[in-house]
Amino acid sequence: MKTYNVAVAGATGAVGNEMISVLEERDFPVKNLVLLASSRSVGKTLPFKGKSVKVQELKEDSFKGIDIGLFSPGGAVSTKFAPIAAASGCVVIDNTSAFRMDPDVPLVVPEVNEHAIAGYKKKGIIANPNCSTIQMVVVLKPLHDFAKIKRVVVSTYQAVSGTGMKAIKELEQQVLNLYNSRKIEIKVYPHQIAFNCLPHIDSFLDNGYTKEEMKMVNETKKIMEDPSIAVTATTVRVPVFYSHSESVNIEFEKDVTPQKARALLKKAPGVKVVDDPLKNKYPLAINAAGKDDTFVGRIRRDETIAHGLNMWIVADNIRKGAALNAVQIAESLIEKYM
Ligand code: A2P
Repeated sequence: MKTYNVAVAGATGAVGNEMISVLEERDFPVKNLVLLASSRSVGKTLPFKGKSVKVQELKEDSFKGIDIGLFSPGGAVSTKFAPIAAASGCVVIDNTSAFRMDPDVPLVVPEVNEHAIAGYKKKGIIANPNCSTIQMVVVLKPLHDFAKIKRVVVSTYQAVSGTGMKAIKELEQQVLNLYNSRKIEIKVYPHQIAFNCLPHIDSFLDNGYTKEEMKMVNETKKIMEDPSIAVTATTVRVPVFYSHSESVNIEFEKDVTPQKARALLKKAPGVKVVDDPLKNKYPLAINAAGKDDTFVGRIRRDETIAHGLNMWIVADNIRKGAALNAVQIAESLIEKYM
């Protein structure tokens, strides 16, 4: 079997760490694994397949001989280093928002638009979509193929792990300190996140939306390859460690009953239907954490429009929303093109 030299850039971060675990769990054919982070992490080691791998500083010459680079070091670092890596012949799969809307960079969720991976040849970069968008489109795609979606109204309930390790630690510290009647530190978010909900993810734009909200709007159209789908979003950070939850309202061109939607979604790759409300069964963040599937439930008619459904979609934002999706792209890439 052919094996590949793989680099993980941002290896010490929340997503980078999970990328290493997913490579190991799925037995990705790694010849040599190179772990890259900032100079602060030099000297650290991380486990991979029973061995300790040293973390190296990400530098311009880090990608010589590397076949695939899984990147999650933050947008500014990816903007600089992804083209450098690509120029040295490495195919970059980038989890940041840096290249997602570049027309010469494919934006891929393998269950939805695997064929788009072919476009990696233009720049040597494939973009991994926004976490909230990934879990939404794996559910939207089979419904769109059946009844054509006109409009989506989504509100998200997003876990702190999406902001990275420092946000996980901040929620932990705030909960502990509040429980012990101690003062809390507010550093990562503009407000206390413990026992609170912040209608503010990423920065605000001139139109009053946040960048995170506009990512959901624009990335959905690109991945679904249908600019006519109208999307409007409100993205909210909630005091949950892992898994994003979403309330999604969908308007269709033709009728799709809740029963039909459940049947379509039961057959959809990467989707699990959990929808038995009378037995208190619906998707939950705590159950989705650590899992690969995207969970959907509470599927019911929107009784205010002709052809509409409401549903609740939950997935582990660090796995399907980031690391797993990136490794799935790498798997398709080597199977079809390398
Ligand atoms: P480090 O741990 O050395 O700071 P998270 O999203 O969880 O905050 O993780 C961000 C990841 O990106 C970490 O692995 C971090 O490494 C890495 N990173 C941040 N800044 C740089 C940089 N300037 N060069 C390389 N890696 C970086």
